[in-house]
Amino acid sequence: MSGDALAGREVLLVVGGGIAAFKSALVARELQRRGAGVETVLTPAGQRFITGVTFAGITGRAARVDLWDPSYPGELHIALTGRADLVLVAPATADLLARMAHGLGDDLATTCLLAARGPVVVAPAMHPRMWEHPATRANVALLRARGVVVVGPVVGPLASGESGIGRMVEPGEIVDAAARALTPQDLAGCRVVVSAGGTHEAIDPVRFVGNRSSGRMGYAIAIRARDRGADVVLVSGPSALPTPEGVTVERVRSARDMRDAVMAAAGAAQLVVMAAAVADYRPSEVAAEKIKKSDDELVIRMVKNPDILAELGASRHEGGPMLVGFALETSDLVERAREKLVRKGCDLVVANLAADGFDGDDNRVTLVTPGAVTPLAPMSKASVADHILDHFASHRAR
Ligand code: C5P
Repeated sequence: MSGDALAGREVLLVVGGGIAAFKSALVARELQRRGAGVETVLTPAGQRFITGVTFAGITGRAARVDLWDPSYPGELHIALTGRADLVLVAPATADLLARMAHGLGDDLATTCLLAARGPVVVAPAMHPRMWEHPATRANVALLRARGVVVVGPVVGPLASGESGIGRMVEPGEIVDAAARALTPQDLAGCRVVVSAGGTHEAIDPVRFVGNRSSGRMGYAIAIRARDRGADVVLVSGPSALPTPEGVTVERVRSARDMRDAVMAAAGAAQLVVMAAAVADYRPSEVAAEKIKKSDDELVIRMVKNPDILAELGASRHEGGPMLVGFALETSDLVERAREKLVRKGCDLVVANLAADGFDGDDNRVTLVTPGAVTPLAPMSKASVADHILDHFASHRAR
């Protein structure tokens, strides 16, 4: 299932009449950048905030406003929705949500919303008092119950100068929600546990031994598993990455903390992916006070940390989770991955050379299983994540 769910798909973008409409141009551009074809429909109020010319310039297609457009000979709302794989309403005003909830169809936007089939994603934007009004609450609940995906609003500065709930989520997140709505939910009902990032092994109250792992690979696996419908627990060592929405994140510091969190979550899991760069050693003692500088050498004795993956592998049982490990090597990639597969008792080892995968957004990996060695081309970490999840999905289907 590699590739962007938006690539080659048709999105109908409905722009309501709110000040957040200025950001809808960025939504259109991001949809376009990710490979979707975009038709734009503005409500008459939307047109007061942003013009169709902006969307035409971005999407290469005329933006539509008028249900009675004399230049179009047929039924415009039927033609526009017949091609759409998804309808995205951004911004969704209180009025537009109310008209959607009650099935009104007195302009091009609302007739399209009635005629559309397939997923509908709405990004509300309004003043907090309007968002919290019982009528809006009831309308949103009704739309949610019908399967409409509601993304946001969030708390932040508002056009009125106040701050509160009602701000439209940022364009990138709206487009992510659209992509998710188009992604087949082949992992629905699965519990997936992913570890990510490095670990910090304390030397004293302020110092630690750590490594350069960014956490990107593990976070990408957690995010793609979530997108594909899994119930995801992400056990994250220290990482600068933002907390992904819709994922249960447990933040840990040391290898031993990570072990406890992974073990606690793994019991109910069908898949455990150890993408974390777990420190193999930790200082044998943690100084209670900050270690003072002196003229002597400082010697830190290190002891071995628990090997979480090996522990999971050793306690495998019928019906237990599929176990996936990573092998970051500087040479003899496949041999070392094969050895790890056996020694740690896992089902799949994702092997990569340190030079290929550290930090950046891309990775070049080889999938090593007991029966096959599959080198993959260089690709984004999200695509690598999909390959790993595809492997799990195909085994589950057997
Ligand atoms: O032995 P090595 O550290 O190369 O093994 C890497 C794999 O084992 C990774 O999947 C890593 O998350 C896991 N691991 C672990 N506990 C450790 C060390 C590594 O689970 N203490």
